Amino acid sequence: MSDIKRIAVLTSGGDAQGMNSAIRAVTYSAINAGVSVTGIYRGYEGLIDWEVKELTIDNVRNINNRGGTILYSSRSERFLDKKNREIAAKNLKDHDIDALVVIGGDGSLRGAIEFTKEDIKTICIPGTIDRDMCCTEYTLGFDTAANAAMEAIDRIRDSSVSHGRCTVVEVMGRKRGYIALWAGMATSADAIILPEKWEGDFDNVVEAINRRHVGGKNNYLVVLAEGVTDANDLANYIQKETGIESRVSVLGYIQRGGSPTAKDRMYGSLMGAYAVEILVNEGRYNRIVAIKNDILTDYAIEEALDINNNELDSFQYKLSLTLSV
Ligand code: F6P
Repeated sequence: MSDIKRIAVLTSGGDAQGMNSAIRAVTYSAINAGVSVTGIYRGYEGLIDWEVKELTIDNVRNINNRGGTILYSSRSERFLDKKNREIAAKNLKDHDIDALVVIGGDGSLRGAIEFTKEDIKTICIPGTIDRDMCCTEYTLGFDTAANAAMEAIDRIRDSSVSHGRCTVVEVMGRKRGYIALWAGMATSADAIILPEKWEGDFDNVVEAINRRHVGGKNNYLVVLAEGVTDANDLANYIQKETGIESRVSVLGYIQRGGSPTAKDRMYGSLMGAYAVEILVNEGRYNRIVAIKNDILTDYAIEEALDINNNELDSFQYKLSLTLSV
């Protein structure tokens, strides 16, 4: 018989498509197991201020197709302060909550690790468009974001072709290049610039464009991961060195919005159900749900943040080079 009678769930950090499916699956699975669910609004902020709602099956019906998160989110500065974490832990204990499910990215995981020190049983679900956690092959939101970027770039290319221009398109991803790599490969970009591989050299990009120019091409697409270099500087340099008119498009938050793909809905559902399974039926906690070899598994939360074990997939990277020659 499980000693978990009530759990809380929150979403934290940048919203990611599929978070709603995870909230839904947590709620259905918990209620099916006789466990009550408290939804915490605005991530760790709501945990400190005790902004909550009892979640019922009715509250979470028909939310799979919704972007964003029905529980809202925040990047809580206040949660970095131990005093506020103590308030949050007291709130949970005062309301007889036995465990917490945190759906979010690396900042949220760091918060969760600190929070386990307040003796709160915690399970994390990886939710971030950046796909930047080393222990899991998938983080919720990535597929929808990569597709949103791909669709936007397809449109941008139409205009670029009509005008014979080069367009530098900046995509999100924080310190990881997966959105750039996938959206760039899917749109046959002439150059993909990734944080993991950037050597600070604009000339490689110019060379790639010149090679194609000689071959008769008249429009170019450069996909740039955010934070690597300034998109305007790069476009100006390309224009100066090649004589090809160049433009910049920064895709921004359209990558975080919109209805989740089937993959994000499905993985959100699987991860949400798995979180409840290990917590309630197996009595394990302070774990992060992960996908390994396309199978659900779990790790100690700290393992998701091991920066020494967070390489870009080398086969995917090599293929991106082959396909853009
Ligand atoms: O982590 C998700 C993400 O969208 C990153 O790709 C981006 O760098 C960041 O969040 C933007 O953060 P904010 O929503 O706080 O502006």
